[in-house]
Amino acid sequence: MKVEEAKQYHKIDAVVVGSGLAGLRAALEIASSGFQVAVLTKVYPTRSHSGAAQGGIAAALANAAEDSLELHMFDTIKGSDYLGDQDVVELFVNEAVKTVYELEHMGVPFSRTEDGRINQRPFGGHSSPRACFSADVTGHVLLHTLYEQCVKHNVHFYNEFQVFSLLIQDDISRGVIAWDIRNGGLHIFHSRAVLLATGGYGRAFKITSNAHANTGDALGMILECGLPLEDMEFVQFHPTGLHKYGILLSEAARGEGAHITNDKGERFMKDYAPAKMELAPRDVVSRAEQTEINEGRGIGGQDYVHLDLRHIGKERILERLPQVYELALNYLGVDALVEPVPIQPTAHYSMGGIPANIRSEVIKDAKGTVVKGLYTAGEASCLSLHGANRLGTNSLQEAATFGRVSGIHMVQFLKENGYENLPANPLEQAQSKISAWMNGTGSERHAKILAELQDNMTKLVGVFRNEEDMIKMKGILKELQERFKNVTIDDKSHIFNLDLLEAFEVGNLLSFSDVMVEGAIARKESRGAHFRSDYPKRDDKNWLRHTLAWRTDKGVKLDHSREVVIDMDRYPPQERKY
Ligand code: FUM
Repeated sequence: MKVEEAKQYHKIDAVVVGSGLAGLRAALEIASSGFQVAVLTKVYPTRSHSGAAQGGIAAALANAAEDSLELHMFDTIKGSDYLGDQDVVELFVNEAVKTVYELEHMGVPFSRTEDGRINQRPFGGHSSPRACFSADVTGHVLLHTLYEQCVKHNVHFYNEFQVFSLLIQDDISRGVIAWDIRNGGLHIFHSRAVLLATGGYGRAFKITSNAHANTGDALGMILECGLPLEDMEFVQFHPTGLHKYGILLSEAARGEGAHITNDKGERFMKDYAPAKMELAPRDVVSRAEQTEINEGRGIGGQDYVHLDLRHIGKERILERLPQVYELALNYLGVDALVEPVPIQPTAHYSMGGIPANIRSEVIKDAKGTVVKGLYTAGEASCLSLHGANRLGTNSLQEAATFGRVSGIHMVQFLKENGYENLPANPLEQAQSKISAWMNGTGSERHAKILAELQDNMTKLVGVFRNEEDMIKMKGILKELQERFKNVTIDDKSHIFNLDLLEAFEVGNLLSFSDVMVEGAIARKESRGAHFRSDYPKRDDKNWLRHTLAWRTDKGVKLDHSREVVIDMDRYPPQERKY
């Protein structure tokens, strides 16, 4: 299809795909530097999933206790199980303090200490109270403040626009194709620079804290362009998901002193992480919980344990943890003031994603070759800051900091580069997908395929993994992908066609789940959130390496030649005990 067949053609300096914290912060940087920037988002911006982050944003302000950049850096590296690139971690912690003060000056209503400074609470794996917070709605207030700033600086918002394909030719980004969800029709966005900030992709799992929109669309499109993903085997399971729903109950609850107990009423973390107890990092706490459940010490022998807040007291719970309180009450009918809340591990965060260098430029191979004009930030990206396991509150900080960093580099790029030509048939890829689903005669439905994917990913590629289960999952994925070729959608209309959007999302989920599973099978060690019961030890000799993975006609291709950036004199790998 030719350009003139598009519903509309837009020529704009920069496009940001995704309106979470990373996307908005980058857009603000670009717009306030005098360039035109469009944010394309499939949901209304303030409904982006950054708004669901609850407990805080990390920065070594030292407002509640002694702290230092050095300590934040060490905690992050240790938390990453030594897979985090240490140059990226250093940049991150150095910028984090500035990022928080900048957000404060934009108007973020942080909770305060008695003497009026930004308050900070403890979080898992951090050795000092480092989480700057706004009760337990920190992501919500950050997102709203940044959205206001973007509106003030004339960022162009295309709300309810789903990007369907990336226009990349000869390793140069030239724009994107997006579907107008409200009115139907494909739009061409011809731009000099593109940022991919579509967030996480926990929706590959049945039990997840992620919103329905978190389907990793940019990752699917990257694979479709023949580009790789990085470290996809590292998926974080948050220990305090609301039982059955997986909805996040903030780690802030434990930061405020909540206990986790088993069927015998024991605080079992004493057996797994005696020094840190409930405030060990998430991978450690989730494994402990799952072990208790697997060994029959879940509540009533079932698949959950208890989060007990009662001793914190009514006043503090309602002041500091109002959302945690309401979620338990509204979803499970549990009043956390008087009874413990059923919880289980929930797929929460993806350490892997679109590989990028320290300037947030997308790279296409282990040598670090850049795709010109293409950037990524936030959870969709893999820089690799969090390595094998992210510490709580480092994600909001990553989104805000690398939103700004990517924006700065995009501005520099825009100053030096003009528009590249569009490919000859820019609409072709998106159009052929849409017509296959709309005009198909196959009997498969995407919702059924999605349910099978999620169910099996939770069962077979969860907190504990082994070769046999993952090989089984690989077979299931192969079968689901074959069936997906016969998917037809029932809604043939162009107005708010969610059937069409969901087909696109399920295609993406299937595509990168394959990469996740192959990466997990290949990594024959346990590191951070990737725990293999058949290889329970970390193997630094062979695996201080990142995984790059491409999808090809012959299946997933892996490359492990990208070594972790480590300063052996400063932070050499050590045994990780808490
Ligand atoms: O538990 C939480 O409040 C989540 C925070 C995070 O994932 O950083």
